[in-house]
Amino acid sequence: MEKFVNTILITGGAGFIGSHVVRLFIKKYPNYKIVNLDKLTYAGNLNNLKDIENEKNYEFVKGDIVDESFIQSLFKKYQFDGVIHLAAESHVDRSITNPTEFIYTNIVGTVNLLNAARGLWNEDMIDKRFYHISTDEVYGSLGDEGMFVETTPYDPRSPYSASKASSDHIVRAYFHTFKLPVVISNCSNNYGSYQFPEKLLPLFIHNIKNNKPLPVYGKGENIRDWLYVEDHANAIDLIFHKGKEGETYNIGGNNEWQNIKLIKKLCELMDDKLGREPGTSENLVTYVKDRAGHDMRYAIDSSKIQQELGWEPSLEFEEGLEKTVAWYLENEDWLNNVTSGEYQKYYEQQYVKR
Ligand code: NAD
Ligand code: DAU
Repeated sequence: MEKFVNTILITGGAGFIGSHVVRLFIKKYPNYKIVNLDKLTYAGNLNNLKDIENEKNYEFVKGDIVDESFIQSLFKKYQFDGVIHLAAESHVDRSITNPTEFIYTNIVGTVNLLNAARGLWNEDMIDKRFYHISTDEVYGSLGDEGMFVETTPYDPRSPYSASKASSDHIVRAYFHTFKLPVVISNCSNNYGSYQFPEKLLPLFIHNIKNNKPLPVYGKGENIRDWLYVEDHANAIDLIFHKGKEGETYNIGGNNEWQNIKLIKKLCELMDDKLGREPGTSENLVTYVKDRAGHDMRYAIDSSKIQQELGWEPSLEFEEGLEKTVAWYLENEDWLNNVTSGEYQKYYEQQYVKR
């Protein structure tokens, strides 16, 4: 039987960022056993991991982090050395229409994992690690100036960000109270392959391809800081192995874009890729009712991870965007698969009746 030096639990590994983290760890650490635990909600998709599903050091377990006794037995069975916790309800708009699911998964689910890790590692916490993946949205909304640093006071404003903020606090409480060896990171907006087309970039790529309206919230003035998902996965690898216990690291692209400017850039690129007349895609822009409580601006100061761990984004945004658009156009089957069934109902409720 194969002997592994570490058994690592990755939660939410069938989702967007999780699938990139699983792939990276499977390839880079053949001597680690990676257990991917995922409930396979609408956002989880095993097709995201087709290329590595038969690797010897990979195992998929379908399950819900909210199910306490299941989580306890999973930790007993696998005796994990480390946890990288990404499973979450992640879409702000869905948290506005149905907040409760966010409370269960993002808060109760995180507490179940913390309790199971604490129970398993109680006698010996040496070389163990509980890594909680969080978001820059916990810091609230910025005006024209300033950036989020690790000590920026929390000021979450959507049910999604409030649930993530709550779980961050609980993770820190387990460090201070129970000495659980935790580390947290808060990242800005990710973009890249395998992102569910409810989020801005894959949704707009899909709509442009199908000549559907591009629903811009409010005046399109909100600003986000975009990071290529593989750069986030590399940062997660570094923090998991070299981050300091009990610390928080901000991760960002140093790449702020006002939504409407980003959308216009995407439209130009899509015209070019699809061989359409310049301006064709931009004609699809449709201003719609703003998101309730829409945060105006996020910007991450990631100097701590850059200086302490030597991480930096590897790609220029132009290159990342081009690669991303090319991926969605080349992977039409993936996009068609995830936009059938349940997605149609979501789209109708979110946009057609808006
Ligand atoms: P995603 O929605 O694409 O994936 C979430 C995954 O979690 C899915 O595979 C889903 O099936 C799984 N999941 C949901 N509920 C579960 C449950 N109860 N039990 C087990 N599995 C469950 O999300 P993402 O964009 O990949 O985000 C991953 C993590 O990174 C989240 O914690 C999110 O808050 C954080 N984050 C995301 C971004 C971003 O831009 N997407 C930025 C910063 C931080
Ligand atoms: O900042 C990190 C966060 O980024 C993550 O924690 C979240 O999980 C992730 O979903 C993302 O949140 P946002 O709300 O910033 O991402 P979204 O893609 O939903 O929206 C990006 C911006 O585009 C935001 O200002 C809202 C706007 N938007 C979005 C959609 C889906 C539109 O104008 N129209 C749309 O249809």
